[in-house]
Amino acid sequence: MHSDELAGRVAVVTGAARGIGLAIAQALIEHGAAMALWDVDAPALEQAAHALGEAAWPCVVDVTIADAVHTAVRQVVDRFGALHILVNNAGICPMTPFEQISEPEWERVLAVNLKGAFLCCQAAWPFLCDAGPRGRIINISSVAGQMGGVSVGVHYAASKAGLIGLTKALAHRLAPYGVTVNCVAPGTTATEMTAAWSREDLERAWARIPLGRLAQPDEIAAAVCYLASDRAAFITGATLDINGGLYVR
Ligand SMILES: NC(=O)c1ccc[n+]([C@@H]2O[C@H](COP(=O)([O-])OP(=O)(O)OC[C@H]3O[C@@H](n4cnc5c(N)ncnc54)[C@H](O)[C@@H]3O)[C@@H](O)[C@H]2O)c1
Repeated sequence: MHSDELAGRVAVVTGAARGIGLAIAQALIEHGAAMALWDVDAPALEQAAHALGEAAWPCVVDVTIADAVHTAVRQVVDRFGALHILVNNAGICPMTPFEQISEPEWERVLAVNLKGAFLCCQAAWPFLCDAGPRGRIINISSVAGQMGGVSVGVHYAASKAGLIGLTKALAHRLAPYGVTVNCVAPGTTATEMTAAWSREDLERAWARIPLGRLAQPDEIAAAVCYLASDRAAFITGATLDINGGLYVR
């Protein structure tokens, strides 16, 4: 991919303070995009923005709060003059066993992982439509949304399956404007999210991966960059699997 392939594009990445979101932000910047980094973790966000340099603009945004999301989208457009690429990456992954999941925990997981993406899409879509064939929504789902996961909670798997449905429905809705909507479905990836898992949960997931290792965040970011580029302009409604063979369709 050419290093300036995304020059002139403006992106929002949610959950960008660390892990996969930070790797996505870094890769988009390396290919020329300007960027708003959204996260709820203010100190980590500042650190990430400092590391990424002046192309990255950090904003504390909780994707579950509609007013905050709408205000933040407006601020991005005021600052950069446009919005071309929305990456819905913010997510949480409690490992609570099915029979112990409380109703508030179920609602929180669905709020961050699924409602948050919906709110960001709804706030951003008029500006993405203005971007026309450069407009992109890329949702970070999970292999758990496709095959139920190995160790993760059922609420997590359900939220990530919901993201795939949201992607397909929005792909139809936004196609007339030239905007594409796709998913990336990572398998187990080496981030702080999985570092917090018990050794037993991690080993169970690892043992099921035919390629014999976890994904690295920059491998997920490379797929997002591709989907954001002009080369992927005819791909919409798709889910790109990056799971080391854990789930083969
Ligand atoms: N790590 C994996 O194995 C894996 C596998 C498949 C999919 N994913 C998905 O990839 C995405 C990133 O995962 P990660 O491993 O980098 O996780 P992570 O926990 O390392 O990072 C997630 C980021 O999201 C932020 N966040 C949480 N709630 C938020 C909210 N309400 N508003 C804004 N930001 C919020 C966190 O502060 C954090 O910086 C998640 O959606 C996750 O479900 C991860």
